[in-house]
Amino acid sequence: MKIAFVGKGGSGKTTLSSLFCRFLASQQLPVLAIDADINQHMALALGMPEAEAVNVSPMGLEINRIKEYLRGDNIRIHSDGVMIKTTPPGTGSRLVRLLEDNPIYSYFQRQINGVRFMATGPFSEDDLGTKCYHSKVGAIELFLNHLVDGDHEYVVVDMTAGADSFASGMFTKFDITFVVVEPTLKSLSVYDQYKFYAKDYGVKLKVIGNKIEGLEDIEFIQSKVGDDYLTSFHKSNYVRKMERGEYLSLEQLEHENSAVLQVMRDEVNATEKDWDRFYKYTVEFHIKNAQSWANATAGEDLTLQVDPNYNFRMESNSWLVKSSQ
Ligand SMILES: Nc1ncnc2c1ncn2[C@@H]1O[C@H](COP(=O)(O)OP(=O)(O)O)[C@@H](O)[C@H]1O
Ligand SMILES: [Mg+2]
Repeated sequence: MKIAFVGKGGSGKTTLSSLFCRFLASQQLPVLAIDADINQHMALALGMPEAEAVNVSPMGLEINRIKEYLRGDNIRIHSDGVMIKTTPPGTGSRLVRLLEDNPIYSYFQRQINGVRFMATGPFSEDDLGTKCYHSKVGAIELFLNHLVDGDHEYVVVDMTAGADSFASGMFTKFDITFVVVEPTLKSLSVYDQYKFYAKDYGVKLKVIGNKIEGLEDIEFIQSKVGDDYLTSFHKSNYVRKMERGEYLSLEQLEHENSAVLQVMRDEVNATEKDWDRFYKYTVEFHIKNAQSWANATAGEDLTLQVDPNYNFRMESNSWLVKSSQ
């Protein structure tokens, strides 16, 4: 399952996505965490020492390694140079599983306390809306477009929620999107914006309240988001101690907050995968990107990369069966 954490800066995306990954790993479930947030703090939140975190190879800086592998011998993509972030898999492309060895994982992936981890690498506020930002997050989009995850396998992406994520198809890549909100109007305005952009794309949004101090906070969020509300994480001493550099085991997390992680996992497990929707939007956003800028840059018609004979649902199902044998 592909899971995004979005929300206003400071709302708690990194805190909650990291705790969720640690929680899944503590249950021996396979989990891959991806840091695509503007502030790259996920490695630290997962418990990687700072000195090591700076050595994680950023996917955004070496996107060609990813392209080269995923392109395989797809004849519709004649070189890495014409493969863009939205290029969909087709006949000859390599699909990727969560549990396997491949050159992408061996180069970019690190293990942090049972959680597998990859990162886009840092970008700045100034990068937003620029080519730089897009190519960094584009590495993740391209990877996700080729990633065939099975049931009870979890990919968790800590993401910047700005209008930028809607220019590409990134926001359509997820089976479920958790919007982390504090009980404030500012925080909720990011939810409103996300909801507005996502409404025509069958995106499943669930709101997680954070830094809750009482029933009033929960009622306030519920009154604004209605049925999208899922659960709420309380203001936490555990989180504050972690913030001071104490790395605590998950057993020490407050009971009420552990319960929230379980509710989130149950919600993910109850979510239906829809590969047809996934691929449909991969193609749709590829055509949009090709026509709006990439054809001009590449000097050729990149819409021809879409393979009309490719059935992604069938390919991914047979890939899951074949690679688990
Ligand atoms: N439930 C919580 N209780 C106490 N502090 C929290 C909680 N959630 C987040 N924080 C603190 O709020 C700040 C922002 O959280 P962070 O996860 O980095 O947000 P984001 O990734 O959305 O920018 C951090 O200092 C974090 O420790
Ligand atoms: Mg963050």
